[in-house]
Formats: sequence, structure tokens, C-alpha cells
Amino acid sequence: MKKNTNLFFSLTLSAIVSGAGMTAVKNSYADEQESSQNEAIRGAFLFGKYCTLCHGEDGLGEGVLSMRLGTYPSTNLLDPDHRFKTKERIKSAIIEGGSSDGIDLHESMPPYGAELSESDIDAVASFISYLRSETEPAITLLRQKITLIPLRRTAGRDLFKSHCVLCHGQKGLGDGRMARMLKAKKLTPPANLTLSRLPDESLFEIISKGGAAVGRSSFMPTWEEQLTVRQRKAIIKYIKSLRTY
Ligand code: HEC
Ligand code: HEC
Repeated sequence: MKKNTNLFFSLTLSAIVSGAGMTAVKNSYADEQESSQNEAIRGAFLFGKYCTLCHGEDGLGEGVLSMRLGTYPSTNLLDPDHRFKTKERIKSAIIEGGSSDGIDLHESMPPYGAELSESDIDAVASFISYLRSETEPAITLLRQKITLIPLRRTAGRDLFKSHCVLCHGQKGLGDGRMARMLKAKKLTPPANLTLSRLPDESLFEIISKGGAAVGRSSFMPTWEEQLTVRQRKAIIKYIKSLRTY
């Protein structure tokens, strides 16, 4: 109720300021609708890039990462019990993550305040609202955007950052945010990639098929469905550049 009242006031105010009566109100409303739609489209792209690893490709929490950790908190953004409802609250969850004392979120939700610009955070929050209100078209949009994530010169590094650092760490030392959790559970920690001596074919195999398929830890996920061959090759080139011997 409160929200509608505010919207009404702001529209009335813009009409008075512009002095153009009802048409101005209608136009500014249509503009607002259109720009929030564009924002959600950009947000879908960003969500595909940064968030699907834990929140899944359809926001249902079926991310490669979250599915593998039994006691991991639910990352289902469509859960009707979600605690972050308004766009402002969603933004605060994304900016602060589970890092601050003031916000009730599990520590493995990363803070994006330093990594993403304010307008990117706005866009990704709009996409989450869209996903919650119009789930089906939002998922279709997300799937479309995921296939469009382009390969740039820095693709290998970018993909490594968005898909691998959580476990392997910024510099590939095997000390990412999730490494602590694996170590605490006495599970095989993520490999130190700076010391890896695997040849290209073996790198391609473990990255594509995952650890379990090659007799290694099943916490090394399979990537063949999430990353194209082109993308996997770009990552391989990048992780080899991290080698220090
Ligand atoms: C490393 C895994 C991980 C990544 C990557 C991640 N999240 Fe999360 N996120 C979580 C977890 C775990 C929770 C649930 C925390 C809880 O329930 O206390 C969560 C919760 C949230 C919530 C609050 C849900 C609610 O209850 O309303 C929002 C919003 C959110 N994440 C958005 C994002 C966005 C946007 C991105 C990408 C920019 C992202 N997350 C990336 C793990 C992740
Ligand atoms: C959920 C955590 C996790 C994520 C995310 C992850 N890995 Fe791993 N990775 C592991 C673990 C654990 C191992 C160690 C497997 C073992 O030794 O049994 C590993 C091992 C590897 C190895 C083997 C290195 C060697 O020389 O033995 C490579 C290569 C690798 N990961 C690449 C990647 C790439 C590339 C990505 C991102 C696309 C990635 N990993 C994402 C957990 C992860």
C-alpha cells in the first residue's frame, strides 16, 4: 500500500514539475517501465555471469556449487520464505553479502559491493525481482543471456574469476572462500593450480568431466554443460599462465 502511495506522489510531482498534465504522467510511467525492463535484461546477463554457480541457471538454487554441499544453506531465490523482498533489501544482500554483522545471511553469500558497480547491482536486483514476479519469461531470458556471454581477450581470466576462484582462489593457490569449508569438513582441498603439471588434454578432461570422472575429488565440478569448449580452452590457457615453476 505504502509503495503505491509513493508511486502516486512521485508521478503527481513529476506532472506538476513538468507542468504538462496527464500525458507527461503517462509518458514518464512508460519510460520508467521500459528502462526497468532494459535493466532486468542487463541484470539477467550479470546474473548468468556471477550468480548461477550457487543460485542455479533458473534461480532455484541448483548451482553446481550449492548442490554439492549437503549442509549448504538453500540458495533458492524463488523460495516463498526468502527474506530479502524489496529491491532495496535485495540490493543490500548483494552489496554486503554474508560478511557484515548487520545482515542475516550465510557467510558464503559473497559481498559484491566492491566487485560490481552500483548500476550493475541495480540491474541484477531488478532481474531477481523480475524472476520472482514473472518466473518463466525471466528464466527464458536468463538462458538466452548465458549463451551470449561473449569471449573477450580476457575471457579466460574472467571465467576463472566467476567460476573457479571461489575454490581455487584469486591466484589459483587453492585458497578460495570455499576451500575453508572443504578443509573444515576434512575433504580434499581445491588444487593449487600454480603447481599443477597436468598437460592440456588432462586439464581439459578434469575441467570438462569433473574430478570424480578421473578418480579425483567429486568437489571439483563438471563444467561441460556450463562452459563451451571455447570457454574451457580459454580458461586452460589462463590457468597455465598462473604456473610458477
Ligand atoms: C558462493 C555462492 C554464492 C554466490 C556466487 C552468490 N550467492 Fe547469493 N546467496 C548464497 C547463499 C548461500 C545464500 C543464502 C544465505 C542464507 O540463507 O543465509 C544467498 C542469498 C542470496 C540472496 C538473499 C535471498 C533471500 O533470502 O531473499 C540474494 C538476493 C542473493 N543471494 C543474490 C545473489 C546475487 C545477485 C549473486 C551474484 C551477483 C549471488 N547471490 C551470488 C550464495 C551465493
Ligand atoms: C567447488 C570447488 C571447486 C570449483 C568451483 C572448481 N574446482 Fe577445480 N578442483 C577442486 C578440487 C577439490 C580439486 C582437487 C581434486 C583432487 O585433488 O582430488 C580441483 C582440481 C582441479 C584441477 C586439477 C589440477 C591438478 O593439477 O591436479 C584443475 C585443473 C581444476 N581443478 C580446474 C578448475 C577450473 C578451471 C575451475 C573453474 C572452471 C575449477 N577448477 C573450479 C574444486 C573446485
